[in-house]
Amino acid sequence: MTHKILITRELPNTVKDTLESAGHQVFQADFKAPPTKEQIVELLQKDSYDILITLLTDKMDGTIMDAAPNLKLIANYATGFDNINLEDAKARGIVVTNAPAIQSAEAVSEHTISLMLALARKLIPADNFTKAGQYEGWDPMLFIGSNFFGKTLGLVGTGQIGKRVAKYARALGLKVLYFDVRRDEAFEQELGVEYRASVEGLLPEVDFVSLHVPLLPSTQHLMNEAHFKMMKPSAYLINTSRGPVVDEVALEKAVIGGVIAGAALDVYEFEPKITEGLRSLENVILTPHIASASTEARLEMAEVVLKNVQAFTNGELSPNVVNR
Ligand code: GLV
Repeated sequence: MTHKILITRELPNTVKDTLESAGHQVFQADFKAPPTKEQIVELLQKDSYDILITLLTDKMDGTIMDAAPNLKLIANYATGFDNINLEDAKARGIVVTNAPAIQSAEAVSEHTISLMLALARKLIPADNFTKAGQYEGWDPMLFIGSNFFGKTLGLVGTGQIGKRVAKYARALGLKVLYFDVRRDEAFEQELGVEYRASVEGLLPEVDFVSLHVPLLPSTQHLMNEAHFKMMKPSAYLINTSRGPVVDEVALEKAVIGGVIAGAALDVYEFEPKITEGLRSLENVILTPHIASASTEARLEMAEVVLKNVQAFTNGELSPNVVNR
């Protein structure tokens, strides 16, 4: 059976080409920036699509789904799926899948470690300084950072990504504490990491806090003013999960007020908008939601999306259904 498939933006070519070679009709939109709700609705109304491949920037709620009465599958090209209202999809009989590629977990954990190292060693201001021609010779007081070795990392969330960050941090000589809704004693034994029963139990002890939780009502503003106050003034926050997990205005205040030493963010509460005050701070690193942006990750994400779509078109259960 031929399916009508809409892809909201350009993806690695394998997706469109493979689905077309299997005989499906595929339209891939070529927006250069994330499409608005109205643009997605307009596209959906142009044909009777039954499969939609979305990106994490496509905010899918019931009102958009209603523009495609034949829609049966939304395959998200991302690990996270907070952009899709799962209840609205379920109520309309639409299956939703995500793309939890292993290479993507790898990429995000590597980016997290890069951000931690860059913060600790003041890499970005040092690079700016050198390129600006300000280097006049070796100076024992120049850009003094802190060693990684012997410090303590606190992980909030230890799924595929958090566990990898733990592994790399242990290899670099950090002590690792973690909080997760599920305690994992095998993980503790394997890597020599320690469990804390709450976020509050972990914050006062650590030099870095790294967030690896999905965005849920229970994780929204998990890092807020009260939690920043529990951190050491010398500690850093790293967020490569989802922006709204951090109260960004409270973060700005905490960094400017010296409540914490700094932060590195790859995701933003009001993405793509960024709380203005954060942009000019030397002790804050901002990257444009690229933690999973490796060639390996993007290709495997495409493969996972393809598997989900192909299973569906073969009348089978897709491997990564998230709204059963
Ligand atoms: C990236 O943020 C993803 O969820 O894949």
